[in-house]
Amino acid sequence: MSAIDPPGFASAPTSIDEARFRQVLGHFATGVTVVTGVDDGRPVGLAVNSFTSVSLEPALVAFCVGIRSATWPGLRTAGTFCVNILADDQEALSRAFAARGPERFQGVGWRPAPSGAPILTGVLAWIDCTVHAEHEAGDHVIVVGRARALNVEHEGRPLVFYRGGYGRFEL
Ligand SMILES: Cc1cc2nc3c(=O)[nH]c(=O)nc-3n(C[C@H](O)[C@H](O)[C@H](O)COP(=O)(O)O)c2cc1C
Repeated sequence: MSAIDPPGFASAPTSIDEARFRQVLGHFATGVTVVTGVDDGRPVGLAVNSFTSVSLEPALVAFCVGIRSATWPGLRTAGTFCVNILADDQEALSRAFAARGPERFQGVGWRPAPSGAPILTGVLAWIDCTVHAEHEAGDHVIVVGRARALNVEHEGRPLVFYRGGYGRFEL
């Protein structure tokens, strides 16, 4: 137990089993985004569901990226990224941008945001950002972005991620 643990945690285990952590946290439903950027003139991106809005003034958003991410170092160097919010017919895009390998943009339509980062065709909305801050957090980095440009592309329905699977949002 660390000095700052309240007394109620004295008998709790000091570490949480990874599978249990995933199983319990998987009950939090999220949307799905693809965070894109340009690395050495090449479009790059990865699927991200840890995205959230953070602050209105200034306009800040955040996401968490694994410390072993192959894509994050390039985005960090560029200092800009674009968050693409996926629609419910874009499950294949989410899978492609979570797969290993450099072919993620094969057959994917896109146009550049003001930063140059790709806006993927068919997304619900996008937020083009500059890197505002980075915070180490265990095996992830919390990336805070300052929104510089943003838009709703169409009023479709979002892709939902829940308990390790994809679903749809019903009103
Ligand atoms: C729905 C979904 C959400 C994901 N969310 C995140 C996330 O928030 N942060 C993260 O680092 N990886 C996340 N991943 C995993 C990455 O997309 C995956 O590990 C990818 O291969 C990382 O690529 P990179 O090494 O090029 O960064 C997610 C994957 C899926 C399918």
